Amino acid sequence: MVRDVKKAIFPVAGLGTRFLPATKSIPKEIMTLVDRPLIQYAIDEARAAGIEEFIFVTSRGKSALEDYFDAAPVIEQELRAKNKTDLLDVLKATDMDSGAIAYVRQQKAMGLGHAVWCARRLLGDEPFAVVLPDDVIAAETPCLQQMMEAYHNTGGNVVATMEVTMDKVSSYGVLDVAEDMGAMVRAKGMVEKPKRDEAPSNLAVIGRYILQPKVMENLNEKKIGSGGEIQLTDAIAREITETGNVFGFRFRGQRYDCGSKAGFLQATVAFGLARDDLSAEFSQFLAEIVAMRQAAE
Ligand code: UTP
Repeated sequence: MVRDVKKAIFPVAGLGTRFLPATKSIPKEIMTLVDRPLIQYAIDEARAAGIEEFIFVTSRGKSALEDYFDAAPVIEQELRAKNKTDLLDVLKATDMDSGAIAYVRQQKAMGLGHAVWCARRLLGDEPFAVVLPDDVIAAETPCLQQMMEAYHNTGGNVVATMEVTMDKVSSYGVLDVAEDMGAMVRAKGMVEKPKRDEAPSNLAVIGRYILQPKVMENLNEKKIGSGGEIQLTDAIAREITETGNVFGFRFRGQRYDCGSKAGFLQATVAFGLARDDLSAEFSQFLAEIVAMRQAAE
């Protein structure tokens, strides 16, 4: 029987050094795409997939993230007094049920695997999702929801994958494919940040996972992996070796790496253009600025 997934871990304890100096005082996950922080996109995606408990793995300097999920009585009062119901609705969409959010600390940034492991006591013996908020995915059906539907057919562990060019494989966890079934592949291995000529495929794993409790057990070993960090990839790779029960899922949608500056800018443009209230003015501006640059060259 395939067990439902109701809990998701959001590892947000990284240092975000690629966005210094901004991340000196602002958590990366609070940076905004148009008018919503990255974390809101991640929460909405998880909710759409049926997640009811949200576990944040945080670190020093992330209090803005915790505050974001608090009620905002002063702003609400002001909006009510001015009868700004549309803005009250915008705020309401960010409300979380009392007790739905839990925070655990990762004292030292020892890697994604270690961050996930920090949440072990809140999970018990349940399957869980992991969502990295800096991977933002534009999709008709939210990515984690697509994965959940696939998971209900296969069970086991499901990781989101996408094809990348070979010069990019060394930035990702990469799947070794045993069987390609189209949207789904069965994995026979997974390697973290392989060199181009050692990569088993060009099927990269991105920041959405549905995992069984056994993967958490594997993390107990705290094996140091690529980059001197404790890697989630290694815990999943062990699950592949021991059970063969790990699937890659080719999601439908466009993923933006908002952990990198170029990716963040691309997402800003794409999300700005997708907004009814902005697209006309914004696309005109983009056309003009591109034309101006071309004329200057
Ligand atoms: P990244 O590899 O993007 O690292 O982490 P980072 O620290 O956030 O950013 P840079 O590379 O210094 O710019 C991927 C995800 O894993 C989390 C991050 O918060 C991010 O969501 N993470 C990473 C942790 O929670 N703890 C860690 O020790 C490492």
